[in-house]
Amino acid sequence: RIVILDFGSQYTQLIARRIRELGVFSEIVSPETPARALARPGVKGLVLSGGPSSVAQEGAPVPDPALFTLGLPVLGICYGLQVMTRLLGGEVERAKSGEYGRAALEWRASSPLSAELPSHSTVWNSHGDRVLQPPKGFVVLARTQEEPHAAIADPDRRLYGLQFHPEVTHTDLGKEIFANFLFRICHAPASWKLSSFLDRSCAEIRAKVGGEQVILGLSGGVDSSVAAALLHRAIGDQLHCLFVDNGLLRQGEVETVRHLFGEQMGFALHVVDASARFLAKLRGVADPERKRKIIGREFIHVFEEAARKLGPVRFLAQGTLYPDCIESAAAGHGRPAVIKSHHNVGGLPKRMKMHLIEPLRLLFKDEVRALGELLELPREILFRHPFPGPGLAVRCLAPINPHHLALLRAADAIVVEEIRRAGLYEEVWQAFAVLLPARSVGVMGDARTYELTAAVRAVQSVDGMTADWARLPGEVLSRISNRIIQEVRGINRVVYDISSKPPATIEWE
Ligand code: XMP
Repeated sequence: RIVILDFGSQYTQLIARRIRELGVFSEIVSPETPARALARPGVKGLVLSGGPSSVAQEGAPVPDPALFTLGLPVLGICYGLQVMTRLLGGEVERAKSGEYGRAALEWRASSPLSAELPSHSTVWNSHGDRVLQPPKGFVVLARTQEEPHAAIADPDRRLYGLQFHPEVTHTDLGKEIFANFLFRICHAPASWKLSSFLDRSCAEIRAKVGGEQVILGLSGGVDSSVAAALLHRAIGDQLHCLFVDNGLLRQGEVETVRHLFGEQMGFALHVVDASARFLAKLRGVADPERKRKIIGREFIHVFEEAARKLGPVRFLAQGTLYPDCIESAAAGHGRPAVIKSHHNVGGLPKRMKMHLIEPLRLLFKDEVRALGELLELPREILFRHPFPGPGLAVRCLAPINPHHLALLRAADAIVVEEIRRAGLYEEVWQAFAVLLPARSVGVMGDARTYELTAAVRAVQSVDGMTADWARLPGEVLSRISNRIIQEVRGINRVVYDISSKPPATIEWE
């Protein structure tokens, strides 16, 4: 495996994914991890990521200098190169003007890092500091017009540094550079395959669980579905999937889950209808944060009660993914403000005093989808749009009651159906309806109406952190609007949300 020290770059996870795509397992660790903890059996090399700091800055993250004496190959990228240069006695300076965007790279010396690469290619830069003087023992491997030290190395100690970012797709041949580092310099075996991961995980789960029972909260989303399918493959009916109907689900959701997971996949599925409890607690609540708190708390109560009914259960399984587990340098430097307190079942394990099983905790989202395919989950589950834990509650801005939820559900189903029909479902990140408490006047036939408004939201995004409104074709919007107004009695106006995130958010609450 390859260990990546994360200095807080927005691209660190991309480095990990590039390496895994090449068949070598990679993990991300804190930049201050002591050298002796890095020199574990199986570790074939280290990567020092980029980062937002300047090496001269007070408090900038510095790795354990002893890592350069472990005899492991090291690849420093951008900040990683600069911090390596500094620790090994070279000089780094603040560039007069940083170098951002594309640059033409020229390899000047042969080395295993550039083996079989053309001498010229395009690379992508993003840095304010630069190497003025490489450390003793280092040679220059490549330059760009602006940057005489675009790639440097001490081949004897197998220490390599790149000023540019090989992990981004704007760098041509970035994958080949990683492949050279992995296979020609680290001599790492390409043994990371999802199919072998699957076999290994099943064996590990069986060994851990023995004859005990396991419970898992199935939400119908990608992560919990894949976790459930993996556990079911490993332990069959010792896995109990609990699906809580909180009354805030999309149209047809309960039936879909029953059909797909209960009948088709054959899971031991327990559907708990708790809708009345949730709706009673939400009556008259308008504040979005209070909604989330109430729903989060109620979910824990319902889950605990249902678990107790199953008898003694020692294990709780969750579909936690790798990005949720990484402790990066960036997280320490000023945590982001809480914009919305996202609901998840994070509070459960502590309260329930169960042993936790998180079979996906080493995987990225795309790997989880690929694993789901191996486990024969249908595409309609694996490529589903995200749906918030508090469900329709945060999309119903009108008072929450069964009537308003029914209107919202019907409008939402039309939005999704028409977007699917137009072949756009997988082109957009999310598409849904929001019910607004605004009433306006309309005419239908000869009669005056005075009814509610539905907002349609469709966004394009890569990770949900930023988003732009989707440029849906006029005909699709028109079909959505006509159908909602004709088919959903109680809504007489449809508007399209054209705000991007930031400054808006994807959900309305
Ligand atoms: P926002 O509205 O913050 O949403 O731009 C970003 C992404 O997160 C989803 N979301 C939630 N997911 N519980 C969840 O599990 C929540 O409380 C929640 N709020 C927003 C949202 O659907 C989008 O994909």
